This record gives sequence, C-alpha cells and structure tokens, in this order.
Amino acid sequence: MPKPTSPPHGRIADFAPLKGGLPAAYLQFLKDNEHVEKWENVIPLEEPIETKGVACPMPWDTISKLAHYAANLPGACKEVEWGNELAPFAGLRYAYTRLQQHAHLLSALENLLPTLAIAPTGIVEIGCFTGGLIHFLAREMPSIEVVGFDISPIALDVAAMLAERLTPDHRPRFLSADFALVRPEIIPEEAKKAFERPVILLTNVLHAIGQQLSFSPAVSQAHAEAGLISYWVNHGALVIVCERGDDPERSVQEWVDQGRWEGDSCRVEILSDFQCWTTRNMNPDSRLGEWFHSDASVAVFRNNDIWERRNDQEET
Ligand SMILES: C[S@@+](CC[C@H](N)C(=O)[O-])C[C@H]1O[C@@H](n2cnc3c(N)ncnc32)[C@H](O)[C@@H]1O
Repeated sequence: MPKPTSPPHGRIADFAPLKGGLPAAYLQFLKDNEHVEKWENVIPLEEPIETKGVACPMPWDTISKLAHYAANLPGACKEVEWGNELAPFAGLRYAYTRLQQHAHLLSALENLLPTLAIAPTGIVEIGCFTGGLIHFLAREMPSIEVVGFDISPIALDVAAMLAERLTPDHRPRFLSADFALVRPEIIPEEAKKAFERPVILLTNVLHAIGQQLSFSPAVSQAHAEAGLISYWVNHGALVIVCERGDDPERSVQEWVDQGRWEGDSCRVEILSDFQCWTTRNMNPDSRLGEWFHSDASVAVFRNNDIWERRNDQEET
C-alpha cells in the first residue's frame, strides 16, 4: 500500500496543461466561482451546503440480507451514502482535487471534437458528483445537451444548486441512477436527444462501477468495465475514459479483450498518458481525501462507422 504523500505546493496555475485553451478557461471558471489560488488551500468547506433533499439513513440490515439476491446492492448503497455525506462539504472545491485529470480530459476533447465526422447530440458525464467539469462544459457548449449522472441524489442536489449560479443560461440536466443499470430505453424523454449520439465521459468512476458489479463470482471487474464501455459504443456513443492507474495500456487491452464489440469498426486510442496530483480515501474525517501523485490516462472508444471523417468529408 503506497504511503499518503503531502499535498502539492505552490500556485495551481503553474501547471503546464493549464496554459491555454479549454484547460486554462476551466481553471479561470473555477477560480471565478470558488476562488482558490494555491494547492495547499484546497480544503473542504467548513459549513456544509444546505440541500433541499434529505439524505435518508441506509437500512444496512436489510441491504445485507438482500445482497444474496443482488450482488451489487451493498456497493451501490455504500456509494450513495458516501456521496450524500461528503458532497455538501465538497461543493465546487472538489473539482480542484481532480483538476489535472480534468485538464487533460478537456485538452483531449478540444483536439478530438473538430476531427469528428458528425457532431455529438450530448455530453454525458457519469458520476459527475458535485460538478465543476459538467458546469464548465455546459457553459462552453451551449448548442449541445449536457447531462450529469450520479448515484448520489445529494451530490446532484449540490450540483443543481451550483448550476443555478454558474450556468443560468444553459443548465445541465441532472439524472440520479446507478449507471450500470441504465439503457437507452429508460432514459427520460427530456434527456433522450442527448443520448442519440452522445459523448460519454467516465472520469474516476468506471473502476467504482466495476467493483460494485464484481461482488458476484460470475463477473470480474475488468469484464464489467469492458461490458459497460462496449455496450455504449455499440449504441453509438463515443466513450472517453479518464482513470488513474499505472498501466493504461494493460487496462485498455483488458477492456478490448473482454468487451462485447459489435462489427469491425470499433476503435480505441490512448489520447494522453500523464502524472497528476489527486486525492483518495475521501471519508468523513478527511472529506477531500489524502493527496497523492498518480499516473493517469485518457482513452477514447468509438465506432468509426459513425464518428470517423471520411476523405470526401475532409475540409479542403
Ligand atoms: C470519485 S467520484 C468522481 C467524480 C468525478 N467524475 C471526477 O472527475 O472525479 C465518483 C462519483 O461517481 C458516483 N458513482 C459511483 N458509482 C456510481 C454508479 N454506479 N452510477 C452512477 N454514479 C456512480 C459517485 O456517487 C461519485 O459522485
């Protein structure tokens, strides 16, 4: 088990991928709305944000009994409890703890979007927590539907309250669900357009969903993760995965080998492979978690029959 390290020091702005384009605009957006200048000042809010929703206590006795019938139930319920408890103290501050990953993700998105044959109808972030990234995307992309999914209703309450202030002209739509159980047919009518041809962002959530599902001996974590990515690629999505981990090529290879890919045109590309400051082990005693330095990557999965620009479509 690696030892927790001390937080990074110095100005947040002194970080190379933030020098221009969407990453720099993102940092400015965060600073305008929740001003933090230095890494060491990225700390939880002293007072929780008051939400309209009330977090109900989890009936753990019942959940433990039902775990024999639904293997992912305890994991999913723990995640709801975790999010409900920590989100009011995290607010927009949380986004700073994932800033470097989000910066690489935004850079990748900025380079990728102009190369696509067709515009996405929506940007959907799975596990958006209290937001930051989702609000910024809504502000930057007013012509695209933006949807934030999370399993924690209180995290979404905080995100929705922030949206009223941060992006009043183009609010993201927020949906609370276990993403492992979502299929296009059950998307509510008002969010269907976003799912016609979506860009799906999975940042620091795919492993969590994989773990929740892998309590069944029939399912391995990589199998569950690959199943989720390939399901959505087969349904026309362009899926961007930004996860931490020291061997992105091995993870991508596992997803390729274990996915259920339809047709011959599904492709994957690692767009960026980098190191970042981030936190882990967020809990009530350490609400934004402990800092550590991690490897991370951004990979994109898509079906090229849909997304690839053919020669006759290229700009002259
Ligand atoms: C570690 S946070 C990641 C937040 C953000 N995406 C980021 O860039 O770091 C994981 C988030 O995913 C949510 N989550 C976990 N399991 C989920 C599931 N099965 N379906 C939907 N959201 C889930 C959690 O509630 C939490 O808000």
